[in-house]
Amino acid sequence: MAADTVAEPLFAQVQQAPPDPILGLTEAFLADIRHGKVNLGVGVYQNGDGKVPVLSSVRKAEALVYQTEESKSYLPIDGLMAYNKQVQTLLFGTQSEVLAEGRAVTVQALGGTGALKIGADFLRNVCGSTAVWISNPSWENHRALFEAAGLTVNTYPYYNPETHGVNFDALVATLGALEANSIVLLHACCHNPTGADLTPAQWDTVISICKENCLLPFLDFAYQGFATGIEEDAYAVRAFAASGQRFLIANSFSKSFSLYRERVGALTVVAGSAGEAKILLSQIKRVIRTNYSNPASHGAQVVSTILNSVELRAEWEQELTEMRVRIREMRARLLAALEVTGKDFDFIVNQAGMFSYSGLEKSVVHSLRSEYGIYIVDSGRICVAALNQKNVEYVALAIAASI
Ligand code: LMR
Repeated sequence: MAADTVAEPLFAQVQQAPPDPILGLTEAFLADIRHGKVNLGVGVYQNGDGKVPVLSSVRKAEALVYQTEESKSYLPIDGLMAYNKQVQTLLFGTQSEVLAEGRAVTVQALGGTGALKIGADFLRNVCGSTAVWISNPSWENHRALFEAAGLTVNTYPYYNPETHGVNFDALVATLGALEANSIVLLHACCHNPTGADLTPAQWDTVISICKENCLLPFLDFAYQGFATGIEEDAYAVRAFAASGQRFLIANSFSKSFSLYRERVGALTVVAGSAGEAKILLSQIKRVIRTNYSNPASHGAQVVSTILNSVELRAEWEQELTEMRVRIREMRARLLAALEVTGKDFDFIVNQAGMFSYSGLEKSVVHSLRSEYGIYIVDSGRICVAALNQKNVEYVALAIAASI
């Protein structure tokens, strides 16, 4: 290079990134100094006092972990073995052929997002996949995450705003026309953002299409226990397993154990045979090793300790039930409080999981934010799990005044 030419520094060319559509809202919420502000953006469960709880079962398990932990050496690349086994039982149940045949491999991951990213990197870099189909709409981060892994992201029809339910005919028509080996991202329960889930009979149809057309399903399972119950919510996972297909599952314990910041989840791959599963695991371990080497242990130790203890597991299940029931109560309270609008919001009580896909226009969402300090995702997704007796009327009245 000639001495008189000065290259523009690389950093000087970097453009400002937009705020994250969900976590960016929390940043804005925290910076908001108004009293009475409400964060209905991020999918985080808050108790009746507006606190994100540390579950009692978690506190007890943490105490046990601190007393018994003997080393801070590295975990294996694929994580804590006891944890991975517990994850498999939670996903597939105790009587699983897939497990008996050794066709499933599970690796500990940094939450559900980390599991999706390991899966996406594996599909792109090891399997050579180039595209993925996600639902329209889907979790805000799905598109960005798969694109960051180098995959083209397409959508399949999912939600019908008229009925506030699933546009099943259109979904089936699109999946039925996909090429073999297409990756299809499906929400196993508590569809994020719509809360509109497939019925077991609809799942059976989707599973047959995937099998007949040789598609590769990738199940996002972040809310086990938030729709109906731990076993019931695993319907899709277990029905896919029973169908004998290959598929992937990204699951998370952020919500069900209220362990958000511990980043604890897992990627599970169901292979065609035990031999194939072993080979896939060897490659997934390479993906992990070249990203973050091996995972942190705390969250996995806590989950594993709870699932391994009859008493702690029973306590956790009770706490999970309480969270699910409180969310349902808040749905009913919100619906009742919205009666003043004279509009039909009945769908709120029919949706499953943490969210209500409210149908509120973006302009209303923005005015709720600026006028009332109520933070909702631009799509109109409301985190019902952040409502409580103290803020639900305020939220409903603000909505009534803004629509
Ligand atoms: C959400 O959908 O709000 C949560 O899953 C949190 C996140 O990472 O976006």
